[in-house]
Amino acid sequence: MNTSALADTARAMVAQGKGLLAMDESIVTCNRRLAEVGIAETRENRRAWRELLLTAPGLGASISGVILVDETIRQATAGGTAFVRVARDAGLLVGIKVDTGAQAMAMHRGEKVTEGLDGLRARLETYVGLGASFAKWRAVLAIDDARLPTAACIAANAHALARYAALCQESGLVPIIEPEVLMDGPHTQARCQEVTEAVLRSVFRQLVRQGVVLEAMILKPNMVVAGLACPAQNTATQVAEATVQCLRRVAPAAVPGIAFLSGGQPGDAASARLNALQAFKRTPWPLSFSFGRALQQPALGIWAGQAAHRAAAQEALLHRARCNAAATLGRYSAAMEAP
Ligand code: 13P
Repeated sequence: MNTSALADTARAMVAQGKGLLAMDESIVTCNRRLAEVGIAETRENRRAWRELLLTAPGLGASISGVILVDETIRQATAGGTAFVRVARDAGLLVGIKVDTGAQAMAMHRGEKVTEGLDGLRARLETYVGLGASFAKWRAVLAIDDARLPTAACIAANAHALARYAALCQESGLVPIIEPEVLMDGPHTQARCQEVTEAVLRSVFRQLVRQGVVLEAMILKPNMVVAGLACPAQNTATQVAEATVQCLRRVAPAAVPGIAFLSGGQPGDAASARLNALQAFKRTPWPLSFSFGRALQQPALGIWAGQAAHRAAAQEALLHRARCNAAATLGRYSAAMEAP
């Protein structure tokens, strides 16, 4: 393992003024998103959507890398250029989601554990051969006011994340470690902070125990927010304060970068919160983004599968990418959203 090359890649993923575009929805999730805007759930439409994203002109100015999924990393543009080639030519690092999804956890009603470790070493080798330089694994933690997540669910997911991360580093890939505490439910922001801290503590304990090199990974956490159904919602500053306090307590300074997931936040709220996070100048890590929905959603609605809307959809993606790139520098403001 060449640790310093991995560390260089990790730093490039969170380079100043840039972040990651997560476009690694599973076939099922991508189909659901297409169907929501009236697009037929076909392999060709998934490919066309991913082509639209990857070929947005100048994407590399605000995006450092893209997270693909098994289907997509093997696909090409309608003109026959491999997506990996398109990404590289645009100055984008190529990442790959390697978990096989969160499945119901036995004996733990309402909780999930992420699968995909079986045969992972061989799959990672294949992805390195296809041009990937980083990988992603997402654990999903349901939260409520008292019972969830259970210690068992936290431990199982933390253990799997660390096993995945060690295999990635051995294979020459930078692992993105994504333990997502969900936003669903009426829980308070304080409860989210308590759970997020517990989850991240457990994750780092496992990473260290299993020999993962902290300098050669990226942490992809949720922001610390109240549940979507909580009557008391927070300002961007409150989200930033709680998130930074939480991360300072549990994320080692050796980690080269933190790239947040958006988790279902509207695009402008995610940008405002990411911007507010930059007020904490002395965090040990760059605070960046690895957004899926908060980058893609407006563009998908505009495209709606219509060739005539393609350029406008790409502009909507680029707009969100620029807003978030500005937010990583503390330069985002609501004025950027004016039509
Ligand atoms: P969201 O930003 O939509 O949460 O997606 C990020 C991601 O990669 C989920 O695994």
